Amino acid sequence: MTDKKERTLVVIKPDGIQRSLIGEIVKRYERAGLKLVGIKMFVPESGFVEKHYLLDPGWKESVGKKTLEAYKDKGLEHPAGDDPIKAADTIIEALKKYLSSGPVIAMVWEGINSVGVVRKITGGTEPLTSDVGTIRGDYTIDSYKLADVDGRSVRNLVHASGSPEEAKNEIKLWFSEKELLDYRLVQEAILYDVNLDGILE
Ligand code: CDP
Ligand code: MG
Repeated sequence: MTDKKERTLVVIKPDGIQRSLIGEIVKRYERAGLKLVGIKMFVPESGFVEKHYLLDPGWKESVGKKTLEAYKDKGLEHPAGDDPIKAADTIIEALKKYLSSGPVIAMVWEGINSVGVVRKITGGTEPLTSDVGTIRGDYTIDSYKLADVDGRSVRNLVHASGSPEEAKNEIKLWFSEKELLDYRLVQEAILYDVNLDGILE
């Protein structure tokens, strides 16, 4: 795969804005060599949030399973028992409240393997276990358990598309064609090109 124009969606969630981490978050994707091709700030409506998460028909099962496994790994019992869909129903209701609670910043980042690179920089879903060096691991401390006790979403600062297909669908939902810009950054020459002037290879 050598698609240098692969695109992915990143959303700085309301907690990222409230924690004054906009610059820190943008910096991490930017310095990796990705190119920002679209950006906007608004307060999403709860119906829009639901649409976003339900774009992938398999999402409910996967988020439910992931959550139940995380509980099991820690020797804890989840309130939904062993029904991933039941767990996901609670998760989506909380997400609708969380993401519509204030401004978010939606961005589209472009570059080779952008979906995977952005996920790597973002870190795993639960900040408690996200790797050190990732956004979710470095800037917050939330856990599934803490969020569930208070009946709210896990506050993990950013959304990032999970696969190239998810990215395509999500970008279509969040941005119109004309809001996405096609331009070249000077740094692309050193990231992608060969035989640069003055550099012998
Ligand atoms: O965001 P990511 O792709 O890493 O995770 P997801 O499985 O697609 O879940 C979407 C979002 O739901 C997460 O980022 C959390 O904010 C939230 N979530 C939650 O509040 N409680 C869970 N047990 C699982 C996810
Ligand atoms: Mg996801």
